[in-house]
This record gives sequence, structure tokens and C-alpha cells, in this order.
Amino acid sequence: MKSYIWTLPTRIFHWMLVLYVALAFLSSEWEWLLDFHAAVGYGIAILLLFRLVWGFMGPRYSRFADWPLSKRETLEFLRDFLHPKREYAGHNPAASWVMLGILLLTLFTVFSGVLAYGVQEGKGVFAWLNGTLFRNMELFEELHELSSTLLLVLIAAHLGGVAMDTLLHKKSGTLRSIITGYKRIEATPAALNFVQKLLAAVLLSTAVALPLYTLFFDTPLTQSRYSPVEFEKEHAHFVEECASCHTLYPPQLLPKRSWKKLMANLADHFGDDASLDEEERASIERYLLANSAESSTKEAAHYISRSLGETKENIIAISDSPYWIEKHASIDKAVFQSPEVKSKSNCKACHQRFEEGLIEDHLIAMPKGS
Ligand code: HEC
Ligand code: HEC
Repeated sequence: MKSYIWTLPTRIFHWMLVLYVALAFLSSEWEWLLDFHAAVGYGIAILLLFRLVWGFMGPRYSRFADWPLSKRETLEFLRDFLHPKREYAGHNPAASWVMLGILLLTLFTVFSGVLAYGVQEGKGVFAWLNGTLFRNMELFEELHELSSTLLLVLIAAHLGGVAMDTLLHKKSGTLRSIITGYKRIEATPAALNFVQKLLAAVLLSTAVALPLYTLFFDTPLTQSRYSPVEFEKEHAHFVEECASCHTLYPPQLLPKRSWKKLMANLADHFGDDASLDEEERASIERYLLANSAESSTKEAAHYISRSLGETKENIIAISDSPYWIEKHASIDKAVFQSPEVKSKSNCKACHQRFEEGLIEDHLIAMPKGS
């Protein structure tokens, strides 16, 4: 006897969630994939919205009310685990608890991710929080990491449960049911009405369309609160003098005390003589101090100056800051010496639009051939 348990939308939801969560985990490894990561996250948000609606208005077995979550059923299930007295057509109690955990934790992971994206990067729907909460950006990132790690644990529990079920109750075919929809079991089959079909079609296609749209078009979902800076207009001499030998370093990337020390000794500037007449030097210094890391809410400014604050010496090279060193540790030394890059101080070789003050993850692109 075969019964139809998981309707098509439930199965599509399941496999899309698998795909998106896998993509989210993979893309979290690389900074330059952050916008892709965020787009996937918004896709997961829509999937969760679908699942929530489905939990109340969906078909039999997918509705939350059909999940055997009561204490009695749970205890009974655990007690008779090896010799079950009853069969569950939908989720058994243990699986129901794991599903609930996965749904809630995924929801929290998406929420904390969008928050971190706003607070730390100044991007997305919570970008407005960057101005006030940027000093706590690490906290939001850590919350997001913690909840995604816990999610991995629950996913492992889910896989473990399926494996055990397959071993113990081979004949019902739970594993196959998430592909075919059918379990070898006697039960009332699930069926969809028109409203349910419409709901599933709209929400599931939105879960495909929204991430794609976000990737290819500007939307508030990934928009940055920062605009490019025209340094040429802000201080022409700064650009003229300080970008003649190398990349223009946006003032936000060093704290006041580093700029003061650097500007106090231009005659011996990393082995070069970069001295200026006093009026010009003082004017550039004023500009640098007025726009230093202390007055920025950007991620790079925050982390560079914090890492400098933790060292005793007064470092004047961004690339000598512990944060910079940590962030570039995985890059092969040979890349910095390659003809395309030449020096680790040549930031713009890998960070597009660096000289417009934009140090954005999605603008990182290693030069070709390196
Ligand atoms: C005569 C050439 C010259 C001029 C002019 C010059 N610099 Fe430099 N600067 C260098 C050299 C050489 C280095 C060492 C890094 C490198 O190899 O590019 C350096 C490094 C730096 C660094 C550290 C980069 C890093 O790796 O983090 C900063 C910051 C910097 N310069 C700021 C300035 C500022 C501000 C001015 C304008 C007042 C200025 N420079 C003008 C030659 C110059
Ligand atoms: C050879 C290429 C290369 C050069 C040169 C380079 N970077 Fe990077 N940078 C990268 C890569 C790649 C990452 C991302 C590392 C990761 O995924 O964790 C990165 C990450 C960063 C980050 C952290 C991510 C972010 O967006 O906030 C900052 C800040 C940064 N770089 C600043 C600089 C500065 C300042 C310079 C010049 C002094 C510089 N980089 C030179 C390749 C480079």
C-alpha cells in the first residue's frame, strides 16, 4: 500500500532549502561573494515565509497542527523507539521537533544575517543601523555565525534521524518519500486545493526570482548606504600629492595618531622623500584628521583602527595593521610580487573603486594571472 504524503510544493520547498542553505554555507567562505550570500539569504527568507504559511494553510501532514509535538507522544515515541507501536505517516515526534528547530533556527540565522549585513556593511534593509550600532558590528556577525553553526548541528540531527529511520523502519521508505512523495504505509493521502496550489506557485517562484533579481539589479535589499567619494573635489592637493607615487589611501583607513605620525615625517616616508611645504602639509594633515577612522562607521575603518589600538607601536602603514595582515594571510606572497600587483600597498590592484573610498567585499577581484 502506497500513500501520498508529501505534496509537490513541500518537496520543492525541501530541496530548494537544501540547495540555498548549501549555497549560503559555501559562499560564506569568501568576502567577495557577500552580496551573493545575501541574495541567497533573502531567498531563504521567502522559503521560510512559504513554509510558515504552508504550516497553517497547507495540506495534511505539512500543517504544524498535524505534527505530533505533544509531550505524551514524544515520550511514547522515545520509549518505544526500537519497537514502535504506531506508525507516523508524516513526521514522527522526534522529526517534528527537529523540523521545528530547523525552521526557527534558519529564521534566526537569516534575521541575524540581514542585521549583520546592515550593521557591519551598511547594506540592505538594516543599513540604517550602521550609523548607530557600528561599534558592535562584531557582535552581530558572531550571532549570525553562532546560529548558523547550531543550524549545522540540527541538520546533522535530521540526517541522523533519517539514517536511523531507514535502518529501523526500512519498509515505509521515508527517504524516498521526499523525492517521490509516497510512503509505503496505509494513510489518508495528502491533496491540494486550488488556493494551496496558487499560494505555492506564487511563493516558491518568488523564492527563485527574488535572489536572481537581487543579484542583477539594484534593490534596497543589497543597497549600500555609502556613496563613492570624489577625493579630487574634496581636497585636490591631497590627491595630487598623496596619489602620485601610489594608491590613494582613503583617510578613513587609519586613525588620527597614525596620520599624525606619518605626516610628521614625510622627509623619510618609507624610504622616500615625500616632503611638502608646510602650508600644504598642514592642510593635507587637517583633511586626513577630519576624515580619519574615528569619524567613519565603515567596517574596514572600524576593524583596522581597533586592531591598531591593540598594538603598542604606532603603526603608520595600513598593511602593517594586525587586521590587514589577518585578512590577507591566505593570499600567496608571490601574488603581491606579481607584475600585476607589485606591492601589498597597491590596494587598488585587487580592490576595485578603492580610490573612491569604497572598500566593499563584492568589489574584491584578484588580478588575472595571479
Ligand atoms: C615620493 C613618493 C611618495 C609620495 C609623494 C607619497 N608616498 Fe606614501 N608611500 C611611498 C612608498 C614608497 C610607500 C611604501 C609602500 C609601497 O611600496 O608602495 C608608501 C606608503 C604609504 C602608506 C602605507 C601603505 C600601506 O602599505 O599601508 C601610506 C598610508 C602612505 N604612503 C600615505 C601617503 C600620504 C598620505 C602621502 C601624501 C602626503 C604620501 N603617502 C605620499 C611613497 C610616497
Ligand atoms: C593581491 C590582492 C590584494 C591586495 C594588493 C590588497 N588586498 Fe585587501 N583583500 C584581498 C582579498 C582577496 C581580500 C578578501 C580576503 C577574504 O576573503 O577573507 C581582501 C580583504 C581586505 C579587507 C577586508 C574585507 C573588507 O572588504 O573590509 C580590507 C579592509 C582590505 N582587504 C584592505 C586592503 C588595503 C587597505 C590594501 C592596500 C594596503 C589591500 N587590501 C591590498 C586582496 C588584496
